[in-house]
Amino acid sequence: MLTNRDLEEKVATSDAWIVQRTGIRERRIAAPDETTSKLGIAAAKAAIADAGLEAAEIDLIVCATSTPDYTFPSTATQIQDGLGIQGGAAFDVQAVCTGFIYGLATADKFLQSGSHRRALVVGAETFSRILDWTDRGTCVLFGDGAGAVVLESADEDGSGRGILTTQLRSDGRYRDRLYVDGGPGSTGTTGHLRMEGRDVFKFAVGKVMDVVNEAFASAGVSAAELDWFVPHQANRRIIEASADKLGIPRGKVVITVDRHGNTSAASIPLALDVARRDGRIKRGDLVMLEAIGGGFTWGSALLRW
Ligand code: ACO
Repeated sequence: MLTNRDLEEKVATSDAWIVQRTGIRERRIAAPDETTSKLGIAAAKAAIADAGLEAAEIDLIVCATSTPDYTFPSTATQIQDGLGIQGGAAFDVQAVCTGFIYGLATADKFLQSGSHRRALVVGAETFSRILDWTDRGTCVLFGDGAGAVVLESADEDGSGRGILTTQLRSDGRYRDRLYVDGGPGSTGTTGHLRMEGRDVFKFAVGKVMDVVNEAFASAGVSAAELDWFVPHQANRRIIEASADKLGIPRGKVVITVDRHGNTSAASIPLALDVARRDGRIKRGDLVMLEAIGGGFTWGSALLRW
């Protein structure tokens, strides 16, 4: 665990500044031998056990990450191997902080097509490895972690459970507002995260509104019917401003950014895990997920738990 007080010793910042601007109090940092796939494997094992399945029953693995163990092979295949699975398909999706929504949408469409039956969707990141630890504007914001869900295709049983709609968007013109300044095809290095925080903030609130409202319209439900709003955990102020504008009461908003920081593609599945374990999210609940990330990419997913 790395607290704001710990960061005060690394860069010119303060606990008060970080809490007031972001709501973050602490974040987790992976140990040197903990790679993204190792975090993902641990989350995947917990999700599969929780679903009451055996790993061999999974025939599709989608891993959302921007911090893969290697340029290739994919982190998803590393997770597949770590789970002892030899069949089916495994691949990564890369949509930065929107990665989990993109992964969920991809898996949902595979299951709906009938080509696959049980999908594991993992969001796993070690952002601590791409941070510039001398840049106080970014290094205080992020953390490491992984979360996972299992999706299973099932005949409609009248319960209405499952993913009701996913909305995916992107606009590549905004690359320079949030990016990593390296890569195998450009600099040949891994690079470090760079961000124009204010621009991201402004863009985030407007786009989140659009894509959440589009999900409500697509599914024919209203904000008043929502049980839980589980947004990407980047910044408490973005989350609360978005919820207020959408008319979602603060009591229905799941916030974990205080403990995890921004874990990019891992933040939504980590928040789902917290809210399910503490008894907030229950079977049959209507849950809205949304995220925005580098690209920009953004998206939402509305589901009946
Ligand atoms: N500690 C103390 N002071 C700081 C720190 C820090 N860690 N970081 C910046 N400052 C200073 C700045 O230097 C600036 O000082 P100046 O006025 O003397 O120049 C002052 O604080 C204000 O800086 P701003 O950047 O304007 O601060 P702002 O209120 O916009 O807050 C923040 C910055 C928290 C980054 C905010 O813009 C934000 O949250 N943006 C969204 C970021 C985000 O969500 N990113 C993730 C997107 S998801 C993904 O894909 C990774």
